[in-house]
Amino acid sequence: MEKIIDENKQGEHLTIAPKVGNERKLFIESYGCQMNFSDSEIVASILSKEGFNTTKNLEEADLVLVNTCSIRDKAEQTVRKRLEKYNAVKKINPKMKIGVLGCMAERLKSKFLEEEKMVDLVVGPDAYKDLPNLISEVDEGRNAVNVILSKDETYGDIAPVRLNSNGVTAFVSITRGCDNMCTFCVVPFTRGRERSRDPQSVIEEVNDLASRGFKEVTLLGQNVDSFLWYGGGLKKDFVKASEMQKATAVNFANLLELCAKAQPKMRFRFSTSNPQDMTLDVIEVMAKYRNVCNYVHLPVQSGSNRILKEMNRQHTREEYFTLIDNIRTLIPDVAISQDMIAGFPTETEEDHQDTLSLMDYVKYDFGFMFAYSERPGTTAGRKMEDDISADVKQRRLNEIQALQRRHSLYRTQQHVGKVEEILIEKTSKKSDLHWSGRNSQNTVAVFPKEHYNVGDFVNVKITDCTSATLIGKAVGYSENN
Ligand code: SAH
Ligand code: F3S
Repeated sequence: MEKIIDENKQGEHLTIAPKVGNERKLFIESYGCQMNFSDSEIVASILSKEGFNTTKNLEEADLVLVNTCSIRDKAEQTVRKRLEKYNAVKKINPKMKIGVLGCMAERLKSKFLEEEKMVDLVVGPDAYKDLPNLISEVDEGRNAVNVILSKDETYGDIAPVRLNSNGVTAFVSITRGCDNMCTFCVVPFTRGRERSRDPQSVIEEVNDLASRGFKEVTLLGQNVDSFLWYGGGLKKDFVKASEMQKATAVNFANLLELCAKAQPKMRFRFSTSNPQDMTLDVIEVMAKYRNVCNYVHLPVQSGSNRILKEMNRQHTREEYFTLIDNIRTLIPDVAISQDMIAGFPTETEEDHQDTLSLMDYVKYDFGFMFAYSERPGTTAGRKMEDDISADVKQRRLNEIQALQRRHSLYRTQQHVGKVEEILIEKTSKKSDLHWSGRNSQNTVAVFPKEHYNVGDFVNVKITDCTSATLIGKAVGYSENN
């Protein structure tokens, strides 16, 4: 299952093959969404040219970087604990420098230097190219901060190094930032305005991955359906573009089709879709190309029209149902997943029941469910009281999660008896004798290894399931090999 915030990966430190001649040691650790993990690959790539090799040992690091998440309070608390740990190590190794990257850096800016006295370097998500300068400042004994958000930085010209890669699946970022301004969400403040990457550089990265043996790419952005390239510039300025720019603009459906055609044997996925920006031309491309996977992550956050409005989500419950119906008409075996928030300010029991009944209608394949966490600076944080008690939030969250487990089981059961194409990614966590991979719908499948290998596309007969995993037996290579 491709989690937006993968709990197993939180705090993973990343290492790459050392470059000969590099003498300084970088320890880099990442928290939060996949975009942060991708950004850390860009940072490692920039610093490898500056004399840094990555290390797994915090104790021997010259530079410690932590790529941080602000999405919920708990995410920030985790990072604060790590900063305490780094500072304890710094007492033994005083030459060590500590830097904060990502969303917390952007949100707290120089407050990190003033209040915490725990860090030497603060760098926001659009300023990583300035790292070499900032590090020389720090080397000369000064603190350094760059939290300037950019209108056009997409790092499209930096070839990311793949950190801790399985060599089979990779993420390619296509948009940065978000303009949607959901009232609970800190992302528009920490990651800035929405901008799209040059499709040419996306295709080049995809081709390069294919030539290195990668078999699946997930196109990544806070809001991928909003992708729009007309030669650079912000989405909101498209109205001012020339006729020529408008005529040659590339939208998300076009980009997806370009990818599908460029590498017909490579699987493509994308994440995340916002219902208000998702258009059916994207689903038509999914239906047309067998290498575009039949899976959509379509966060809804709530099933209540009143709460959707308070959240500034630009669609109603009914419009969402129409979208779901249209997707299912075009792709009958599509898998759909959700993000849901329990206990948004003013949420009543009736609103909560609306969420449960929306889930009953869609019967999501899986989902990521959270208790509302007030974020300073957001519209909800400024204008609404966080008035649902922790107990009530937790009880509603439990009910949402229990219902999702039932729906997940219902969905996995639909696969039993079928033969499905699985791309092998790794050895199963539970058994060294089994492979683990995913089908087109993004559901994990495990099966005995036999003579197959990582990176093979294999047809697997599904014989059993749990609510999260399909269990089966390989019946041969798929035609995609
Ligand atoms: N479009 C983004 C969404 C980022 S946040 C993406 O690429 O996934 C991921 C999820 O975190 C959101 O969909 C929402 O369900 C949850 N979330 C965001 N802000 C939150 C908050 N203040 N409290 C609880 N959950 C939140
Ligand atoms: Fe956040 Fe809404 Fe954008 S959840 S990332 S503001 S689509």
